[in-house]
Amino acid sequence: MSAKFKNILVTGGAGYVGSVLVPKLLKQDYHVKVIDWYIYGDDVLDSVKEDPRLTQVKGDIRDVDLLKKEIPGTDAIIHLACISNDPSYELNPGLGKSVNYDAFFPLVEIAKRQKVKRFIFASSSSVYGVKAEPNVTEELPLEPLTDYSKYKALCEEHLLKSQAPGFVALILRPATVCGYSPRLRLDLTVNILTNHAVNHRKITVFGGEQKRPNIHIEDITDLYIKSLRYEDEVIAGKIYNAGYENHSVSEIAQLVKKTLGIDVEIVFKPTDDNRSYHISSDKIEKELKFRPAHTIEDAVRDLKNAFAKGLIKDPMNNIRYYNIKTMQSLNIK
Ligand SMILES: NC(=O)c1ccc[n+]([C@@H]2O[C@H](COP(=O)([O-])OP(=O)(O)OC[C@H]3O[C@@H](n4cnc5c(N)ncnc54)[C@H](O)[C@@H]3O)[C@@H](O)[C@H]2O)c1
Repeated sequence: MSAKFKNILVTGGAGYVGSVLVPKLLKQDYHVKVIDWYIYGDDVLDSVKEDPRLTQVKGDIRDVDLLKKEIPGTDAIIHLACISNDPSYELNPGLGKSVNYDAFFPLVEIAKRQKVKRFIFASSSSVYGVKAEPNVTEELPLEPLTDYSKYKALCEEHLLKSQAPGFVALILRPATVCGYSPRLRLDLTVNILTNHAVNHRKITVFGGEQKRPNIHIEDITDLYIKSLRYEDEVIAGKIYNAGYENHSVSEIAQLVKKTLGIDVEIVFKPTDDNRSYHISSDKIEKELKFRPAHTIEDAVRDLKNAFAKGLIKDPMNNIRYYNIKTMQSLNIK
């Protein structure tokens, strides 16, 4: 693997995943441009804001003129920008579709026209829906249960159709991400449970037997960086699941409690929503030799340290940690 590209555009680079990814890219000497709304804080990339290799563009990926201005000179795009969970999407489905689907077409077209060589798309393991098969591999048909997932699947389809010599497309389907980030999300399974355990000493589990696949934020960001370096023929038009620890929510709650080593009450309540997700990540391990180096326990410990250091201000109430609450507070059209 060699460092093939220099200029990387990260859409949504000021989000949960982006704000860990961008400093890592800079550390590896990439030149990085971020296009983001910065709705979760203008400060999330402050640790690297003086880096001359970083360009921060506050803007909307639906703005075609902005894309035409900012994309030229880009070698590779990592496309993260998204209304990135079901509740935020459902809050305003028109907005969700315009960002998550409609904007994808001009983005891909301009990228291709401007000779961007590689396009890495953050899809989601939720595209499968709920499967009975023990191993949910990339070959299984997609049965998305929500519009958020449906449009991820449709973007995948469009990207694969758009692939051409010199324009290499790679699709990653990450599991639920966990761990600390300067733009933290406390609305993701492991992070929710850890927050409640640390700050409430009580975790409420609805149901419990539903499975959730997970991936540590350090691993998923390492994977995006590695994705810039694989040879074209290895990844062109490929789709990979990226998730390692399929656990039930009840197991995750126990794991959180054990890792924190504090007195935490776990309360079980019934739920109608018994959707259970699990994925196999054998293909990415076999073909790309990608193995995770971090565990759920690492994520819990990282969050515990961040709480202890006061890095997470008012975790139960601050809306910046909750996508749905931030989206509710804004009137984005
Ligand atoms: N976090 C997870 O567990 C997870 C799992 C699977 C897939 N993904 C995918 O990974 C990507 C990143 O997820 P995340 O957790 O960092 O989400 P996030 O919500 O923290 O980040 C998304 C970023 O995109 C920006 N954005 C949204 N719409 C925009 C627009 N129209 N123009 C400019 N910026 C815009 C937001 O301001 C935000 O900073 C998303 O595409 C998400 O669907 C995330």
